[in-house]
Amino acid sequence: MEVTRERAWETLTRYTKSEALLRHALAVEASVGSYARRSGENEDLWRATALLHDFDYEIHPTLDKHPQDGAGILREEGWPEEVVEAVLSHAEHLELPRDTPLKRTLFACDELSGFVHACGLVRPTGLDGLEPKSVKKKLKQPLFAAGVHRDEVYAGAELLGLELDEHIRNVIAALQPIAPELGLRTAADAPAA
Ligand SMILES: [Fe+2]
Ligand SMILES: [Fe+2]
Repeated sequence: MEVTRERAWETLTRYTKSEALLRHALAVEASVGSYARRSGENEDLWRATALLHDFDYEIHPTLDKHPQDGAGILREEGWPEEVVEAVLSHAEHLELPRDTPLKRTLFACDELSGFVHACGLVRPTGLDGLEPKSVKKKLKQPLFAAGVHRDEVYAGAELLGLELDEHIRNVIAALQPIAPELGLRTAADAPAA
């Protein structure tokens, strides 16, 4: 099959109805897509993988099924092994090697995209003007976006060989263009001072 983000979106939305999960998929897609573009990788394939990484979470919300049972569905649908294996590798409990740039990037963007998204939601200007410094400060507040695994955020940056600041900056920049789809305000929405 030809791997396109449109086809991935079609598969994703067939299994996922929750707005929060769709927004998570879009945020991870934007981040992974920006890394694909900057390193000259197959952007459609990387975007499709990011969109699909949690596609089965709504039907398989427990770790005895997600994402491993989802992988079977993807294979039946004809998704290439490169996509399926990357989807499988995002799950910490499967302890699979992250031995390709796609696998490393997906892992590195999964938790951080959610965290940066959460940071944007509590700011009147959304992601506009958000600095890595304040994201790092919030990472140290355990009650803020408590579901985000901090250790995976730090491990992700390390896996990409990037300073955490740079990785955060990249993710912020990747999410900014899709702020409306993520339900985020922008500087244009903020009341004049
Ligand atoms: Fe997941
Ligand atoms: Fe995820």
